[in-house]
Amino acid sequence: MRYGVIGTGWIAKSFIDGARLICGSEFVAVYSRTAESGDKFAAANNIEKVYTDISEFANGDFDAVYIASPNRLHYEQSKLMLENGKHVICEKPITVEPDELAELQALADEKGLIYVEAIMYMFNPARELLKDAIGKIGKITSVHFDFSQLSSKYPAYKRGELPNIFNPALATGCLMDLGIYCVYPALDLFGLPEKITACAHFMESGADGSGVAGLLYPDKLVNFTYSKLGQDRLGSQIFGDEGTVKIESISKLVNMTLTDNSGNETEIIGDVAKEKLMGYEAQGFERFIANPNDPYYNVIKERAMQVSTVMKEIREISGIEFK
Ligand SMILES: NC(=O)c1ccc[n+]([C@@H]2O[C@H](COP(=O)([O-])OP(=O)(O)OC[C@H]3O[C@@H](n4cnc5c(N)ncnc54)[C@H](OP(=O)(O)O)[C@@H]3O)[C@@H](O)[C@H]2O)c1
Repeated sequence: MRYGVIGTGWIAKSFIDGARLICGSEFVAVYSRTAESGDKFAAANNIEKVYTDISEFANGDFDAVYIASPNRLHYEQSKLMLENGKHVICEKPITVEPDELAELQALADEKGLIYVEAIMYMFNPARELLKDAIGKIGKITSVHFDFSQLSSKYPAYKRGELPNIFNPALATGCLMDLGIYCVYPALDLFGLPEKITACAHFMESGADGSGVAGLLYPDKLVNFTYSKLGQDRLGSQIFGDEGTVKIESISKLVNMTLTDNSGNETEIIGDVAKEKLMGYEAQGFERFIANPNDPYYNVIKERAMQVSTVMKEIREISGIEFK
């Protein structure tokens, strides 16, 4: 598969490395707002062509685009790429609003193109291991997911700068960045909740720096916490009446264990390199392009829509706004 890339941050490099490693994908073009940044990224990643005009990029000689720009741009850039006949894999969150996602899913279908969210959880082989494991711990009544990761941009924010991730005008903040990694497994493992409660802690910039949400089901409560202002050291846990599944990283599903009620711990999976997990996203995307009738593509589309809808509800309850 021949790709063009939008965005020149570290995550774009990680996707390129993963896709080359797992799928042997080719990366032939990059779009950047400036030639300087584009040239630097192209040289570091062995990419031949740099575009600084997005319309020219959209007509480039490649089949697919990986988008890793700030969240606010995902909708308009994905739309432009789909209109120009490119398959799109876009970083999470795939769009800000669920109605934008519905519009672009319909556009992709109409044009016979594949359009997916780059979310590690849905393409991670450990997702099946997790499902097997929670089938072994009896009746599950409570779940706690956490994704609290101290932001490398927080020192700059404290110095008075405004990094993109703490700038609400770009539809960023902690729920959109980290909370989404808790919403995905909650909905994928347990379905849509009957009721949602949530609140957030706001920074002076107006961005949500941390938050909490509770998803109530008839038989269980799934709660999650997320923060960019402090570092989790405990991980996530799913509690059953016959055992507990512990997940060190809810985004990567690595270092998972199952502990029975006698305290016997067994490993479900150890560590996996992030590049590999990014490569699995590319692998799934390329599989759908080769076979658009793959039934898992419908699961991916439906889950993305459910997550986008629940994220919007959490934002409304928590008072998270993008302006
Ligand atoms: N899957 C993961 O683990 C993971 C990890 C990190 C981020 N992400 C996602 O990847 C996306 C990008 O995140 P990031 O932290 O890399 O973002 P970022 O550094 O703020 O921006 C990414 C790129 O977009 C361009 N850009 C920056 N500010 C812009 C602006 N105001 N207007 C237009 N373009 C701008 C820059 O490229 P040029 O200057 O070259 O144009 C920059 O390299 C987000 O959607 C995020 O959620 C995913």
